[in-house]
Amino acid sequence: MTDDDPLAFAESLIHLRQHISPKRLDPPGPSAQELARIFEGAAAAPDHGLLVPWRFVVIPPERRDALAQMFADALLERDATVTDEQIDDARAKAARGAVLILCVSDLSPRDPDTPAHERLVSLGCAIQNMMLTAQSMGYGAGLSSGRSMASRALRRGFELADAEIAVCFVSFGTVVKAKPRRPRPEPASFVSVFGES
Ligand SMILES: Cc1cc2nc3c(=O)[nH]c(=O)nc-3n(C[C@H](O)[C@H](O)[C@H](O)COP(=O)(O)O)c2cc1C
Repeated sequence: MTDDDPLAFAESLIHLRQHISPKRLDPPGPSAQELARIFEGAAAAPDHGLLVPWRFVVIPPERRDALAQMFADALLERDATVTDEQIDDARAKAARGAVLILCVSDLSPRDPDTPAHERLVSLGCAIQNMMLTAQSMGYGAGLSSGRSMASRALRRGFELADAEIAVCFVSFGTVVKAKPRRPRPEPASFVSVFGES
């Protein structure tokens, strides 16, 4: 980090960020005070209409078993013939990541000028702010999702309102092992100038 070159600091945070599997995010994770600052990062996300169209649910260690049960129930909802081993694998996911947080988006038609896709963009920005804040504290971060996100078990377990969706989990912790960073796409592959082919 350099005080005299804030752009270089911002860019290094952005480019050094990489997905770390929750399996590789061990304790210690962010403390309560650090987590508070991470959530302040979320609060700084762009938010058209100032709707705060998202919320985050921290799953403390003593509630990981309840989450494990949700994952098991979600799997059984999809396929009643799953094996005990598959259920154990599903349950194990709830134990991963020193700090585990559910990211919820509110898609209710609260404001016609701010459609659902704009609110999802706002959530994405909030999550990125959180991940970069955690990274600047020395922690790794990873996102996880899957078919259980839309399950009745998870929706009921987290008491989601009808217009809310569980988008993903974000995990924070100490990186025990990181893969090489993926090659990023070339900007030329996703940028064009209107009027030029
Ligand atoms: C909403 C969302 C959900 C994700 N869920 C998963 C997941 O379930 N499992 C996983 O390995 N990665 C998941 N990822 C992370 C991506 O796989 C990762 O960002 C991608 O591979 C690019 O790697 P990078 O973040 O290191 O650049 C998710 C990313 C997003 C945006």
